[in-house]
Amino acid sequence: MRTQVCIIGGGPSGLLLSQLLHRRGIESVILERQTRDYVLGRIRAGVLEQGLLRLMDEAGVGGRMRREGFEHAGTLIAYGEEMFRIDFVEHTGTPVMVYGQTEVTRDLYEAREAAGGIIEFEVEGVAIHDADRDAPYVTWRQGGAEKRIDCDFVAGCDGFHGVSRRSIPEDARREYEKVYPFGWLGILSETPPVNHELIYANSPRGFALCSMRNENLSRYYVQCSAHDKVENWSDDEFWAELKRRIPGHVAEGLVTGPSIEKSIAPLRSFVTEPMRWGRLFLCGDAAHIVPPTGAKGLNTAASDVHYLFSGLTQFYELNDAEGLDLYSERALARIWKAERFSWWFSQLMHRFEDQTEFDRKMQIAEMELLRSSEAAQKAMAENYVGLPY
Ligand code: APR
Ligand code: PHB
Repeated sequence: MRTQVCIIGGGPSGLLLSQLLHRRGIESVILERQTRDYVLGRIRAGVLEQGLLRLMDEAGVGGRMRREGFEHAGTLIAYGEEMFRIDFVEHTGTPVMVYGQTEVTRDLYEAREAAGGIIEFEVEGVAIHDADRDAPYVTWRQGGAEKRIDCDFVAGCDGFHGVSRRSIPEDARREYEKVYPFGWLGILSETPPVNHELIYANSPRGFALCSMRNENLSRYYVQCSAHDKVENWSDDEFWAELKRRIPGHVAEGLVTGPSIEKSIAPLRSFVTEPMRWGRLFLCGDAAHIVPPTGAKGLNTAASDVHYLFSGLTQFYELNDAEGLDLYSERALARIWKAERFSWWFSQLMHRFEDQTEFDRKMQIAEMELLRSSEAAQKAMAENYVGLPY
């Protein structure tokens, strides 16, 4: 087989890149380890920056998102019984869109299929060859057969556990990591959201988040120990703990019900540099992870796709490699800012076992500054709605 861009990974990064390239007449083939249904079965966050909305529109898949998504003009921050609002529109003129990552991925799959896009599912043993030369190729096994594709470029969109990052020689890459000493226990429930905007809560018992997918599908999280197990938590225990962590007047209005999904996510900050090695370009979780606190995971993947897509179109349409040569630098510049914001917001909203009294005083002072300072709220809002590409 031969294509222009071989994309490893059929998650949101790979699919969005493939669809955008297709709209500019650039061929790509996606290699995905799992089945379509497995990929769509993953429950992930759902707060979208304007940059991702524009890319979805440019890819011709923004329709359902704009019809069914919810524009949020602000969010609430609670600490103990106190609560205040960050008005995104007042501070930046820009709302965010609440629309599940699963729905984004579903829309992209449908668009690829409608366009006859090639997605090879259930591939095994993917290996990247000669990415540091002019004629890279990728091999894999599928249905017991050995397969090979020749290409001009390889886009590594295969997530944190994928093969692409590890295909870059260790001495050619540098990794930065921070693992947080707790996780997020999250549930999905067919209940009306407790509030029409998200509530991020810092309570003496730890962090909590009240989010949603639609008017009758809510998503809630509580901070749990990093070693905790889902089976340790009955639904009743989850609801009782959530109520203890949000302001009383909010907890009174909480509608509870059976969870339809329950899982624990670890919190990690991770970046690998560079994001390019020869003709291999890393995108999304393959190159960086953020703790979910700032809802930047999907949005940073989208900005990577933006930079790589514009670099590839510049190469194929103008025979100019400048965008590709600057890809890693440009993508990393924005990623480190998103990493900083996600780290800062995680520091502010969680309780740390090793927190000293002084640390706690600093957290309170930071929260008080955010509550009372126009400038602090503006900075938070600018980062939350998404820094420019
Ligand atoms: N070969 C082929 N496919 C692979 C391989 C491999 N060796 N390893 C992983 N994959 C596939 C996975 O099955 C997955 O479908 O690559 C895809 C990677 O998708 P994601 O992990 O969703 O990563 P990405 O597309 O970059 O999306 C980033 O996902 O995790 C969230 O918070 C994150 O929202 C962010 C978004
Ligand atoms: C979610 O809706 O799952 C969600 C929203 C905001 C976050 C993290 C997760 O910061």
